[in-house]
Amino acid sequence: MPISSKTQVFCVLGHPIGHSLSPAMQNAALAEMGVDGVYVAFDVHPDALGAAVAGLRALGVVGVNCTIPHKEALLSLVDALSDDAACIGAVNTLELREGRCTGHNTDAPGFLAALRAEGFDPSGCKAVVLGAGGASRAVIVALARCGAEVQIVNRTHDRAQALAEQLNGRLGSTSIEAVCREPAALGSALRNADLLVNTTSVGMAPEVDRMPAIPVEALHSKLFVYDLIYNPLETRLLRTARECGARGQHGAGMLAHQGALALQLWTGIAAPVAHMEQVILKTLSAREQELRASLDNG
Ligand code: ATR
Repeated sequence: MPISSKTQVFCVLGHPIGHSLSPAMQNAALAEMGVDGVYVAFDVHPDALGAAVAGLRALGVVGVNCTIPHKEALLSLVDALSDDAACIGAVNTLELREGRCTGHNTDAPGFLAALRAEGFDPSGCKAVVLGAGGASRAVIVALARCGAEVQIVNRTHDRAQALAEQLNGRLGSTSIEAVCREPAALGSALRNADLLVNTTSVGMAPEVDRMPAIPVEALHSKLFVYDLIYNPLETRLLRTARECGARGQHGAGMLAHQGALALQLWTGIAAPVAHMEQVILKTLSAREQELRASLDNG
């Protein structure tokens, strides 16, 4: 679509931002949706985040995505927060309309949509979540909101315990608890679980031979394993789970769904999520080929 004076600008703010898949995915979606818009990436240093948001407001930009390290800092830069963003304590999407800036979090509903797209219904399930960082918060809030019982396992146990207490307090629930990493306790949690979610970076490229410390013998055929990592598409955790008869899925679906939900908020039009996921997979594969070629040549 040719750029004109009517073309709307959407963007993502991050630092660094060079490897973001959002421009490829969101521009493909805008084209498919027939929206006269363009989506660009801005590398914004944390010290300049306030100025960047003020500038976007002044320019009349309606739709902004935000990624590491800005998701928490934005909480104090918006005029209003969605329930999910307030509860999770992180903003990944801004909607700027009529001088008002609202912070949303589409990671939580994006995660649930990705699970449902794989035929897994998380309502009332028993889930074990590995990790207690930023990504984990969105996953836990999403699961707890649909009636799941959540057990958090983290390298730093105190962090898991503090997170469980904080999120139970915010949600008015008792369904979130911390479990220690010791094999007997974690093994028993996994044997009883319907869902295992990895929100840690363990197993992400280039450290593809690593996997989270779990008792592998506790994996079973009724377990669904969701790994938020999408590079590589099959982590060692997913491969091991598959070998144990469990079903599993990589995080490209969540990435596509959180982006599609943001586009929908900004444009009011349903976004082509399957197409967006295809673009993510193609872009990842092209990057891998480039990397291989440069290693072969160098
Ligand atoms: P994100 O926003 O991507 O979730 P984060 O907030 O830095 O990132 O959280 C990273 C999570 O991965 C944490 O739960 C971290 O465990 P700690 O709380 O003990 O730091 C976990 N993690 C990162 N590297 C890890 C490793 N090598 N082994 C086990 N857990 C790891």
